[in-house]
Amino acid sequence: MSLDGRELILGVTGSIAAYKAVYLLRELTRLGASVTVCLSEHAREFVGPLTFRTLSGRAVLSNLFDPQSADAVEHVALAERAHAVIVAPATANVLAKAAHGIADDFLTTLLLAARAPVLMVPAMDGGMWEHAAVTANVATLRRRGVTVLEPETGALASGLSGKGRFPDIDEIVEALRRLLVPARDLAGERLLVTAGPTREPIDPVRYISNRSSGKMGYGLATAALRRGAEVTLVSGPTALTPPAGAVFVPVQTAEEMREAVLHHLDRATIVVKAAAVADYRARHASSTKIKGKRDLTLELTPNADILAEVAARRPNAFVVGFAAETDDVAANARAKLERKGIDLLVANDVSQQGIGFEAEDNEVLLLDRWGGVRPLPRMPKPNVADAILSHVLSLRTAAATRKTPA
Ligand code: CTP
Repeated sequence: MSLDGRELILGVTGSIAAYKAVYLLRELTRLGASVTVCLSEHAREFVGPLTFRTLSGRAVLSNLFDPQSADAVEHVALAERAHAVIVAPATANVLAKAAHGIADDFLTTLLLAARAPVLMVPAMDGGMWEHAAVTANVATLRRRGVTVLEPETGALASGLSGKGRFPDIDEIVEALRRLLVPARDLAGERLLVTAGPTREPIDPVRYISNRSSGKMGYGLATAALRRGAEVTLVSGPTALTPPAGAVFVPVQTAEEMREAVLHHLDRATIVVKAAAVADYRARHASSTKIKGKRDLTLELTPNADILAEVAARRPNAFVVGFAAETDDVAANARAKLERKGIDLLVANDVSQQGIGFEAEDNEVLLLDRWGGVRPLPRMPKPNVADAILSHVLSLRTAAATRKTPA
């Protein structure tokens, strides 16, 4: 789901993690949201308003609260129009004020005026987070429907270690998406998603692999979970954290991926093969480390084409493949779709800078077995994931209508 057209308020309060709100703001605007930032008086001590103003392209709401001013009225109206209010970082102080309905500055007034869902992202010292008063305030807010994220455990600014760290930006954005899209249009679907590269061993320390980061596949799994699907994620080695709620099946080689996919295939209603499966493996992987300093010829043998096998075995599931092309993208992709016998092919041009492998963004062409071609504009991968899933749903509905006898 894109954040295009979303009107958000980002409240920032006085924690050392205030600088991380800058990264959060950048990500929200990158995903298409319009964001108004509201700084508490103490937040201004940590990060100046100019940074937020520059990145949001809007005036920053100040702590100088004058309920009679035209600005105040206008900004309260803005709170009423907002699709969501995020407070990140949220100090113990703002949690307490929000829990008790105190409105003694701009941000806490906005929290009372807002009609939209509220997401609080606490960051504080571990001892404070554990304090009974904070626990009670968080419980009050949650009971009232406010989403309060759990802080992460790790090193804290105090030098101590504990629970209180500001969570990953991706986790905050995902929580926001869940708030914004209660629609569960994939409820009842069972997705089987593959992601990442595979590693084909040469000897115990070396392998053949590729530059796939897994972001596209993980993005698809995350989006499908949010939209209500059951998700099995079969993944080669990546640096990513599997999304909570997915059945996670880690694999290394193409053969392991093939076995895992075939094992989970029967239950799937939609199969999405975003993995960059290594086309070849060493015919004879050495069981001991190969010594250097001499010529070495490696004999390679092709791996089985998992996607083609899935399409052949499972005509009832909707099968989506990916293609990384460098030239004549549309024609090569069409040929690949037909060769593999799949329903939808997501083609990306990996020769272009800034998209595809390892990149944050992607720009893809969707080709379907009924002859349709839809180019998607360049977007962050999470938005591409949502667009692909929506396209699968509409193609499937259209296909069912076509099959219905007149
Ligand atoms: N794929 C697969 N098993 C393989 C190779 C690829 O399941 N052994 C899947 C990928 O997950 C992807 C799609 O096939 O969804 C396209 O992969 P790609 O490597 O681009 O296609 P190939 O058929 O290998 O064609 P070529 O390398 O010649 O472009």
